[in-house]
Amino acid sequence: MKFVVDQQVEDIEMPENLKLNTFLQEFHSNCPHPECSFGFYGFAFGQSPFPVPKIIQEALIKNADKGAYAAVPGIPELRNAISKYNKHYFGMDIDPKRIYVGPGTKELIFNLLEILHGTVILPTPAWLGYLPQIRFLKKNYHMLSTRSNKKISPNDLRKLALRLQDRQKILILNNPNNPTGLLYDQLELEEIADVCREQNITVISDEIYALTTYNFSKFVSMGKIYPEGTFVTNGLSKSHAAGGYRLGYVVFPQHAVDLKIQFKKILATEYTAVSTPIQHAAVAGFEISKDIDEYFQVTRNIHQIMGEYTYHALTDIEGVKIIKPDATFYLLADFNAFSSDLQNVKISTSQKLSESLIVHPYHTAIVGGDSLVLERTDFSARIAYVDYDGAKVYKNYLDNKPKSLSDREEFVRTNAPKVVSGVEMIRKFFDDVKKKSIAETTSQKKSLTSTI
Ligand SMILES: Cc1ncc(COP(=O)(O)O)c(C=O)c1O
Repeated sequence: MKFVVDQQVEDIEMPENLKLNTFLQEFHSNCPHPECSFGFYGFAFGQSPFPVPKIIQEALIKNADKGAYAAVPGIPELRNAISKYNKHYFGMDIDPKRIYVGPGTKELIFNLLEILHGTVILPTPAWLGYLPQIRFLKKNYHMLSTRSNKKISPNDLRKLALRLQDRQKILILNNPNNPTGLLYDQLELEEIADVCREQNITVISDEIYALTTYNFSKFVSMGKIYPEGTFVTNGLSKSHAAGGYRLGYVVFPQHAVDLKIQFKKILATEYTAVSTPIQHAAVAGFEISKDIDEYFQVTRNIHQIMGEYTYHALTDIEGVKIIKPDATFYLLADFNAFSSDLQNVKISTSQKLSESLIVHPYHTAIVGGDSLVLERTDFSARIAYVDYDGAKVYKNYLDNKPKSLSDREEFVRTNAPKVVSGVEMIRKFFDDVKKKSIAETTSQKKSLTSTI
């Protein structure tokens, strides 16, 4: 039997995260060197390494008997808990009726893009998940390149919006940001919100990394600044290290009653509701408790320590430029200073750069610029500093909290040796590239002289 795949699906490109997975697996199974059995220095995967908080695990076990379908927007206990969570952590008063629960924020963002008419504005660099969804839905979209500070410029946003014909535009704001790890402060958000009001721009504010903000008092939700035009998405995946639970939520803008009805229609058509036991488990994750609060503090401190180390160790390599991350477990390393050396040794695109770093003898996995919606020749890469045993490191942190700068460095050396060695591999790679590039130039000059 020959199956015919729908053309719409045929036309979709493989999402970047799947491409990356396939590439790493293929590399692994085809690698002839014995060293390959070790695996690789994993700077590529965007997953929190910590265990799911115990109280969530226990709540899941306790609610394993809940076999009935849940209400489409989520069980009332969960919507209430999320409302209180928003009050406690983000200072927002949100009626639980404005909250819809879904199987991860990725799905909810997709659902929002389904119901919202208009051209999508996608600031770059961007998380690799947005573009395949926009393309799948055949929406009009425009990239908005950020400048050297890697944040949206309100003026550039205004200029772009003025060029767009649609009466409604949708801005995807990701704060704190994947891949840069940067946080927008209140003033920056207010300036963006002013342009959005003026130009009728609806915002999808993806705040999945909010609770990882190292200095949490600095985090401000766009939902607070532009409540009438912002959809805020958040969930369990990053803050609670529970991506596999597939639970996210969206807070609708104030007064969006009609829209909620349309949204409910979509959710009921596509997936009915999130798994009921998972929703009960999530209540324990969103309820305010000492356990969860301590979990947030410990995990964000460890992310910060790992981030500081990675930032300093990488910027120590001459030519590497990074803006220090404020949140998440990522930073964006700019290797463009090596551009001509890379071109000289036939590494002409960011994809080639990722491929060259993964092969023997480097074994280092990064996410290259092409997967971050950057130009193919932009040698920037996302570095995720999470390649360590989260459960062990969490315990070691509690047993002996590193205080001084040297304690913190020692903490990384002891607890995350693969992060330390991985950075050294990146250094070695660029040293080798420079050497090969010099050798290449010399041999080109020689052959030129011999032909003359
Ligand atoms: C910026 C960003 N948004 C959304 C997601 C997806 O989150 P969820 O697991 O809630 O679908 C991710 C996951 O990597 C992400 O990095």
